[in-house]
Amino acid sequence: MGFVDYEVDGQVGIITINRPKALNALNSEVLDDLEGVLNGVDLDVIRCLIITGAGEKSFVAGADIAQMSTLSIEEAAAFSKKGNDLFRRIETLPIPVIAAVNGFALGGGCEISMSCDIRLCSENAVFGQPEVGLGITPGFGGTQRLARIVGPGKAKQIIYTARNIKAAEAYRIGLVNEVYPIEELMPQAKKMAKTIAKNAPIAVRASKKAINDGLEVGMDEAIVIEEKLFGSCFETEDQRYGMAFFLDKNKDKVKEPFKNC
Ligand code: CAA
Repeated sequence: MGFVDYEVDGQVGIITINRPKALNALNSEVLDDLEGVLNGVDLDVIRCLIITGAGEKSFVAGADIAQMSTLSIEEAAAFSKKGNDLFRRIETLPIPVIAAVNGFALGGGCEISMSCDIRLCSENAVFGQPEVGLGITPGFGGTQRLARIVGPGKAKQIIYTARNIKAAEAYRIGLVNEVYPIEELMPQAKKMAKTIAKNAPIAVRASKKAINDGLEVGMDEAIVIEEKLFGSCFETEDQRYGMAFFLDKNKDKVKEPFKNC
């Protein structure tokens, strides 16, 4: 639909931000389209999502500077909220989301990738938060998520200097999980997504929730979150089957797909 394409490959959903004229920059329409696509993801079927950008040059070159240039204080805060609400939704989706970063991931592009669970990128990827060079702060979660991912010192350096970071450095500082030649990026992202999709969906979802929710509280509370989610996996068909399969010493048996979402 519009600026965002959606394709289903088995249990994997692939979302492609497709606005090549502006290097896939995020204006209000793109954000609306992305929300519309997310609304349509069938969580009874899809076990992992991939978000990427169309073309081989840019993942997302940021929020749309032309559209932002004339905003009032109130309008800018509302635009920030629009992006933040959407990216928080991506971050808290019950299923894992992989960002396949195929080029520029600047400003809002870096920020949407950081709302995903896992970031894979191509060798030509460039990350950065150029906002202070435009006279603004990052506004789609960059001041918060970058510090949580790479630590406050590195995040402050990246944001204050507005310096772009190439794939190798992004890997070194832990901003991306893996770097691939561009032609391998989507195959590798799909391979990882399919590996995730093969595992027990209730357990994968519970793991995501345990990690995300636990990071927001102190350790004493965090381990209680883990205990509850660990408990919630038990007595499920998938837990019973997964453990029985391990305990059954018949070497010729073939593992059945996990069924429950
Ligand atoms: N907003 C609007 N249009 C953009 C854009 C953006 N973020 N990024 C690129 N474009 C447009 C360009 O204006 C250009 O359009 P025209 O062909 O109509 O002139 C087209 O995309 C191609 O871009 P360039 O000609 O600039 O391509 P390039 O290869 O020379 O440079 C680039 C690529 C280094 C990514 C450069 O386009 C660039 O610096 N873009 C802006 C990056 C940026 O500052 N992003 C942060 C935005 S602020 C933000 O995101 C705030 C927030 O947190 C909410």
